[in-house]
Amino acid sequence: MTPTGDHTEAVEALLHEERSFAPSEAFAAHANATADVYKAAAADPEAWWALQARTLEWATPFEEVLAWDSPHATWFADGTLNASVNCVDRHVAAGRGGKVAFHWVGEPEGDTATITYADLLERVSRAANALEELGVKPLDRVAIYMPMIPEAVVAMLACARLGAPHSVIFGGFSADALVDRITDADCRFVITADGGYRRGSAAALKAQVDEAMASCPGVERVLVVQRTGQEVAWDDARDVWWHDIVDRQAPVHEPAAFPAEHPLYVMYTSGTTAKPKGIFHTTGGYLTHTSTTHRLVFDIKPETDVCWTSADIGWVTGHSYIVYGPLTNGVTQVMYEGTPDAGGKDRWWRIVEEYGVTILYTAPTAIRTFMKWGDEFPASHDLSSLRLLGSVGEPINPEAWMWYRKHIGGGRCPIVDTWWQTETGGIMISPLPGVTATKPGAAMVPFPGISAEVVDNDGDPVPDGHGGLLVITRPWPGMLRGIWGDEERYRDTYWSRFDGRYYFAGDGAKRDEDGDLWLLGRVDDVMNISGHRLSTAEVEHALVGHPAVAEAAVVGASDDTTGQAIVAFVTLKVADEVADGDDAEIVASIRAHVAEVISPIAKPRQIILTPDLPKTRSGKIMRRLLRDVAEHRDLGDVTTLTDPTVVNMIDGLMAAHASDDD
Ligand code: WTA
Repeated sequence: MTPTGDHTEAVEALLHEERSFAPSEAFAAHANATADVYKAAAADPEAWWALQARTLEWATPFEEVLAWDSPHATWFADGTLNASVNCVDRHVAAGRGGKVAFHWVGEPEGDTATITYADLLERVSRAANALEELGVKPLDRVAIYMPMIPEAVVAMLACARLGAPHSVIFGGFSADALVDRITDADCRFVITADGGYRRGSAAALKAQVDEAMASCPGVERVLVVQRTGQEVAWDDARDVWWHDIVDRQAPVHEPAAFPAEHPLYVMYTSGTTAKPKGIFHTTGGYLTHTSTTHRLVFDIKPETDVCWTSADIGWVTGHSYIVYGPLTNGVTQVMYEGTPDAGGKDRWWRIVEEYGVTILYTAPTAIRTFMKWGDEFPASHDLSSLRLLGSVGEPINPEAWMWYRKHIGGGRCPIVDTWWQTETGGIMISPLPGVTATKPGAAMVPFPGISAEVVDNDGDPVPDGHGGLLVITRPWPGMLRGIWGDEERYRDTYWSRFDGRYYFAGDGAKRDEDGDLWLLGRVDDVMNISGHRLSTAEVEHALVGHPAVAEAAVVGASDDTTGQAIVAFVTLKVADEVADGDDAEIVASIRAHVAEVISPIAKPRQIILTPDLPKTRSGKIMRRLLRDVAEHRDLGDVTTLTDPTVVNMIDGLMAAHASDDD
């Protein structure tokens, strides 16, 4: 693991960043956070978090704040609460039932819905009653595999209301990926839809679930929302239409309170092996973390703000900043089902204008895509409602940051670059608008109450101006409580690197001359493709599952739009087939296979067929070298290869097939 080696160039470039944007007086005058917040949190982090936690509604107030027995933390453990009550009932009870919770925008033009907090309460209550009728009990795991429709949020909140942890599986995942995740968490129930609209057509979801069910004998019932009206196969004993069972339920549901440490959800994410990890989060600490970060990082004014987090509900950003953070804070949101160019490359900006979006939170990949499409699309709309912009999911390059600021933010909106992970539950490193000056490309400083450090290989903090590994040095409320069913992997992955002292994030970071933090990307075999986490091992596993593939090595190569892109080096079982170094048909079939086994998002940008892979004398594939090849870097010393000619040959193939993208 070389935290700095691969990033030297990036680090050099970053060191010379001199642009800094101080908060404007106008923004600072009304900001939720002041510099005192940092002081108060630093003076007594636990007391500060406890204060934040008390803004939630507790059925039994907590006395205990943190119990830390490394690597296990509990927060507010003697308190009880209900997550869905905090997200919904509370606002209705306070007389805000008429307030819009979601302006939902379907992908087909004109397909919209307005859902108030009172509507949401009624829908969640009916859904909770329906789930109870189907037999869902506290601690049962419920898989949710849905498009970006209101029922996805309703389903999550209904599960939370019953104390049944949900496991939302991204709608882009394949049947095989569903099987892995459903079996690992031992889900008894699945909630899905017939399909959803993506890129102008109705994509099938129920069909994937049907295929998965052949290998998921533990699933008892599948609840199906009718979204597209497409043909679906039906198993009367197992399947039930949402509208058949939910609509006839009583509109009220008496919620039970659960201990703060009751599991709220499981979310699968890629680690460094082929098997995804079920990161699990509990209730009280997670809600505290997401609501507090949402309120302070996004400077939320619940009366007037219209928030739009562009993430899918199938990723942690959707969980924390579409569902739990914003709803506990009672804000109005926009939720959009489709792709950014459905109905025109200005679709997003039309939505911003129409709904008066004030806070936009998206990923650098989307920003770079908009940059490529051209300035005229945002310019053709009135974006003056925007007052704050956020970025998440991958390092944002300074060019994209500046473009975002100018063309979307009109030069007036602060940008918060927020670093966090599925594991951290909520934002960990970010500027506080109105307090922290921002630099293009830097996440700047730890959130109040969070202790992050950049350390060297021995765990010693690096001085300003140096790079190293990002660690979190104290437990925090939203931290993962474990990997579902795998205590050893939990310890190994996050805590063994520094002997239980620090949480090891797996990211490289740099502390600049001013002491501000820059996140530089993963230092392990996790790739970040358009903000989607995938492991090299996971893709390699899928590749070698193809009947023609003998061996495969995957690397994440830098890509102008997607941040990283997957490049696969593949040797075939029948050597003849690679006689001319390429075979379009077999490459297409291998790519289709990866999409089938994992998801279209895992399809390699390039597949290089090669008679051999570069290996060390001990037989390890030399990934760093392959990455250099994939990024056309100077190859340097290759003397440890068993067959040095392999590298030159691979490099030749790369040059010959500079792009075999779709
Ligand atoms: C990366 C997404 C740089 C990082 C919320 C992390 C970032 C991984 C940033 C987690 C950022 C996320 N700057 N890198 N602002 N935000 N990352 O679990 O490598 O899908 O470890 O969570 O994304 O991805 P995950």
